[in-house]
Amino acid sequence: MFAKQTYIQRRNELRRRMPKGGIVVLPGNSEAPRNYFDNAYSFRQDSTFLYFFGLQNANLVGVIDLDDEKDYLFGDDYTVDDIIWMGPQPSVAELGQSVGVEHTAHFDAARQTIKKALREGRKVHYLVPYRAEGVLLMSRLTGIRTDEHYNHYSTDLAINVAAMREEKSAEEIEELERAYQIGYAMHTTAMRMTKEGVPERVIAGAMEGVTHQLGDGVSFHSIVSQHGETLHNHNHDGICTNGRLLLVDAGGETVNNYCSDHTRTYPVSGKFSPLQREIYNIVLHSHDEVIRIAKPGQYTDLHKASFKALAEGLIGMGLMKGNADDAVEAGAVQLFMPHGLGHGMGMDVHDCEAMGERGMADYRAMVARADEIDTCIMRSRWRLRPGTVMSDEPGIYFIPALIEQWKSEGKCTDFINYDRLPEFYTFGGIRIEDDLLITENGNTVIGKENPIPVTVEEIEAFMANN
Ligand code: GLY
Ligand code: MN
Repeated sequence: MFAKQTYIQRRNELRRRMPKGGIVVLPGNSEAPRNYFDNAYSFRQDSTFLYFFGLQNANLVGVIDLDDEKDYLFGDDYTVDDIIWMGPQPSVAELGQSVGVEHTAHFDAARQTIKKALREGRKVHYLVPYRAEGVLLMSRLTGIRTDEHYNHYSTDLAINVAAMREEKSAEEIEELERAYQIGYAMHTTAMRMTKEGVPERVIAGAMEGVTHQLGDGVSFHSIVSQHGETLHNHNHDGICTNGRLLLVDAGGETVNNYCSDHTRTYPVSGKFSPLQREIYNIVLHSHDEVIRIAKPGQYTDLHKASFKALAEGLIGMGLMKGNADDAVEAGAVQLFMPHGLGHGMGMDVHDCEAMGERGMADYRAMVARADEIDTCIMRSRWRLRPGTVMSDEPGIYFIPALIEQWKSEGKCTDFINYDRLPEFYTFGGIRIEDDLLITENGNTVIGKENPIPVTVEEIEAFMANN
């Protein structure tokens, strides 16, 4: 937790940005049962609640009144029956005090406060809940049906929260550097363990163990696979085999829930084949090109530059043809990289995605306000500013099903040499990912003082010596 003043300032800043005439309701998360009620998933607080109220406890609701200076925290004190199992717990009043909230009351009072605001014709601003428990809670708090939240959530709140969360403060950047150190330990652990005959599962387990030793677990399910062409491959059943590439995309969270997200791809044998090296260096060039040019401005410019670098390399290899700029404009490079260059980073590994893009059923409302929504919740309009943190994660993948589909549809035949591609059907995929902080004039790579080996030479040297 940061100092109490940080949370007071954030709530005041939100109040300053939001229109008058309402309240903001920010529920924290509850425990989510795994296979029976008392056996829950590892608790993860809601990131926006954490950002404004800083508390890691379950079953709390924060309310910010936009028309006076009052903030509220609602929750029920634990009883002795709970304390027998959980140990001594602070009261809700004590929790409130620790983050500068004077007004605290029992959980049900949240519903009464919201009901009163609605009765008085005040706007109740809330974000679209993303968990079943959150959907039910929001319906209980507001009286709005569970299938109606997309028609009632607040775009004003989504935009303002995303804008605030996106601009990282110095103390948040320190947290992201700490998250990087967890990522460094994870990735070097994996690189050290990767050898012929080692199960992917053993590597994934060791890496995830590191996140629990150094922080609050993984920031997303680890991808540890020799089938790197499957973008989010969570299967760890493979056995490391010489000649194959292992793609490891993984990150950890600090105890304050700031995330890292890095990808490295390396040969099981410790030595890249000439072909692996050639394709790896195209991806690395694309990754480095983004680092070379990233500065305040439009995200789409970086996205296109990364695709152009890939196109140039693939044209050089004879897998693509024509002019690189035209290939990018035609969307041809997406055959080899069917994902975006990057995403926001922070307390969510895809920062603020809970309140936008794919999470947003009523996308039209967002599009109508597109010029205002230039945060990472709408990547097509994303404007990078000093303090933005983003991932830089180009890749080249050979996905037989996608290639066959494009070929049968005659897609982008001016740019793709389909005849060359079947020989790559067993190649797999390569992705390289680091996290960048946008600064006034350029960017800084998070963790640049102690980088995870990334060049062919660094990786081969590390694997030979460890
Ligand atoms: N590293 C996983 C992702 O970016 O989706
Ligand atoms: Mn990522």
